[in-house]
Amino acid sequence: MSNRPALLTDIDTAARLLKAQKLVAFPTETVFGLGADATSAEAIEQVFVAKGRPADNPLIVHIGSLEQWDLVAESLSPLALQLLRSYSPGPLTVVVRRKKSIVDAVTGGLPTVGIRIPNHPIAQQLLLKAGLPVAAPSANRSGKPSCTTWKSVQEDFVGRIDAILAYDCQGCGLESTVVDCTGEKARVLRPGAITEQMLLDANIPMVDDHIASGHGVEPVLSPGTRYPHYQPQACVILLESEQCLHRQSHEINLKCATYAGIGPVPQSSKFLLCREFPDIDEYAKNFYEFLRTSDRLGAQYILLQLTATSGIGGALRDRQLRAASKYVTDS
Ligand code: TXA
Ligand code: MG
Repeated sequence: MSNRPALLTDIDTAARLLKAQKLVAFPTETVFGLGADATSAEAIEQVFVAKGRPADNPLIVHIGSLEQWDLVAESLSPLALQLLRSYSPGPLTVVVRRKKSIVDAVTGGLPTVGIRIPNHPIAQQLLLKAGLPVAAPSANRSGKPSCTTWKSVQEDFVGRIDAILAYDCQGCGLESTVVDCTGEKARVLRPGAITEQMLLDANIPMVDDHIASGHGVEPVLSPGTRYPHYQPQACVILLESEQCLHRQSHEINLKCATYAGIGPVPQSSKFLLCREFPDIDEYAKNFYEFLRTSDRLGAQYILLQLTATSGIGGALRDRQLRAASKYVTDS
């Protein structure tokens, strides 16, 4: 493997590399995926090595259109089909019983597999041209914030992967909603842009103990949620309110800190970097790149305004809580 991953703009070349069992990072509407042929044990082993990912954390398998579902699963339940028809292509992963041709390492030994059809033109063309089920975890070193720009992917994977499709993500900016569809009713395993409220409003049958607040997780069913996630080098401090920001400003030097929140903050000029987003959607889209930029600037602290849980806010709050070392509340 060459030292630097090849930066590609040609999708045919990227598809050829995937078919030749190489690792290719590609943009989606959520975050970058690190793609590999899900039917090749060698390629999948390389993905785990490149990411430094624990072997029991399963990978999501990506396809280019719903017609390709039988590359991944033996059959689809009416529930899985309903979800895929309603929200794909889009930021949704449905967990179903797997097909045997998907190698064991992809699913971490589980009898189930996550299927996702990304809604990003580059990802879609790549997957359709490759014609393979493509296993792709988020393209970041394990435990680090996900990547939404090809430059961030390049930073994490020098000497570790073959190629990067050098386009950026465009879309919601947080990982897909993972929904378990192996039972009669659906269960959200990881919150994302497709919210539980949307599923309830669409009359999708849901288990009763579903994630109500948007920041709970199901530790047994979704193995990935056990591990540390999204952690930059700087210490992330989550602030419940402006009052908390005021208190923190007495404890730390704001010149060593970055800040992200919605709307203007009184002390913006005192920060090393201050991002005032107009709404939750913009906050979510820019969240991972903001964490990474803060590290590049050498920030000691990253101050994050805790978001409300409406819309994508539930997913954003989930990622904020996982990234945070400290949570400052009003009380
Ligand atoms: O938006 C996304 O989903 C991105 C893009 C690249 O598609 N991918 C992504 O992959 O976030 P990753 O590997 O970072 O997260 C996959 C999550 C993990 O929490 C994993 O445990 C869960 O999905 N998962 C995958 N297969 C599963 C399965 N069979 N059963 C339960 N959870 C599963
Ligand atoms: Mg990930």
